Amino acid sequence: MAERPIVLYGDPVLRDKAQPVEKIDREIKDLVADMIATLTKAKGLGLAAPQVGAEKRIFIIDISAIELTESMRVFINPEILETSGEVLMEEGCLSFPGIYQKIVRPEKVKIRATDIDGKEFTMRADGMLARAILHEYDHLEGKLFIDYFSPLSRALVSGKLKRIAAAY
Ligand code: NI
Repeated sequence: MAERPIVLYGDPVLRDKAQPVEKIDREIKDLVADMIATLTKAKGLGLAAPQVGAEKRIFIIDISAIELTESMRVFINPEILETSGEVLMEEGCLSFPGIYQKIVRPEKVKIRATDIDGKEFTMRADGMLARAILHEYDHLEGKLFIDYFSPLSRALVSGKLKRIAAAY
């Protein structure tokens, strides 16, 4: 396992639509192992493959720092089947260091995905896990959490955004 550099806002890969994983081969297993190492080192809650420059439909979530019953979860070729409710919650993103903002997203989600062993699973989530799933899923569509900011919030972070993009 080797960490990979986390792509920051400003890199066009974050706006691309990721491609389905056709086969969970060595390359994909290595990518997931590297993503796990990268997320663990960054102490983040979730990481999508495009954030390490890989345009694959994969994300991982580890909210065990907040919910002790949780552990690392891997989602390959995820599909959002259902969402319901809405809730305002603070979010950050490893590609946007220093930016945190409360945004509205669905409260609950039902998702189908494939795990690292190639087994399909369906799960329902709410709370922090639902929030993380919806945030990471967006990354596979080239969508970013700043897209949900109000014009005012966006204006307030514009200086920070420019500095992050300039670093790229
Ligand atoms: Ni993110």
